[in-house]
Amino acid sequence: MICKLKGIYKRFDDLVVLNKLDLDINKEEIICIVGPSGCGKSTLLNIISGLIKPDKGDIVGDLDSVGYVFQEDRLLPFKTVYENIAVVGKEKNHKKIMDLIHDVGLKGFEDSYPNKLSGGMRQRCSIARAFYFNCEILLMDEPFKSLDYNLKVNMIDYLIKLWDESKNSIVFITHNIDEALLLGNRIVVLSNRPTSILKIFDVDIHQSQRSLTDKYLTYLRNQMIDLLSNEKGE
Ligand SMILES: Nc1ncnc2c1ncn2[C@@H]1O[C@H](COP(=O)(O)OP(=O)(O)OP(=O)(O)O)[C@@H](O)[C@H]1O
Ligand SMILES: [Mg+2]
Repeated sequence: MICKLKGIYKRFDDLVVLNKLDLDINKEEIICIVGPSGCGKSTLLNIISGLIKPDKGDIVGDLDSVGYVFQEDRLLPFKTVYENIAVVGKEKNHKKIMDLIHDVGLKGFEDSYPNKLSGGMRQRCSIARAFYFNCEILLMDEPFKSLDYNLKVNMIDYLIKLWDESKNSIVFITHNIDEALLLGNRIVVLSNRPTSILKIFDVDIHQSQRSLTDKYLTYLRNQMIDLLSNEKGE
């Protein structure tokens, strides 16, 4: 186990967001989190990363290095694609940066500034930046949301490949159940606010062997849709 969330409770003024959440994050696993809009998914990642503190509850375990792909891309506007990626590394590894730029489909744009890129390109730059940073745990907040179908399929395959090589822990938030079914070793379904865990699904098939038409994945998808259809987001 890499860290354990125990009784995490968070409110903003009168709004109770997370209501005593317990969750173990294991080594070498991808945990996908799905849940209604506004239920507190980004808040949960902010708490895991240490950016915000819970009002009650603990995070047990030392996280030395946390990578974070934020819901919005958070690139530095005065740095190029190349520089935005390089900025998180301790020592510059030119080949690795260029390989990442190539793999996320930004070859030719390494010297472009963020304001010259589309939303999806900026998002891919921030994904490359997260992959460049060698972290124990990678937090990804809807990282593929602004990508078209083909780019998304490529990025999912690419993420599985990188995860297979690095075997770091990944917490991956998405509204897309199929993304969760393709990526998660476990899929956590959250309720509406005040948010608790409705169910955790285990998917014991290696990611490289999965197909969305598998009977088991179809069965899981239907269960998740059933659960989520009772939870209205904002
Ligand atoms: N800093 C803050 N101050 C006050 N309220 C906040 C703050 N951050 C989040 N909230 C509120 O907490 C709730 C959860 O927000 P959060 O961004 O974590 O939801 P989310 O599940 O990530 O939503 P989405 O799916 O739309 O990204 C929302 O109602 C939001 O308005
Ligand atoms: Mg969010």
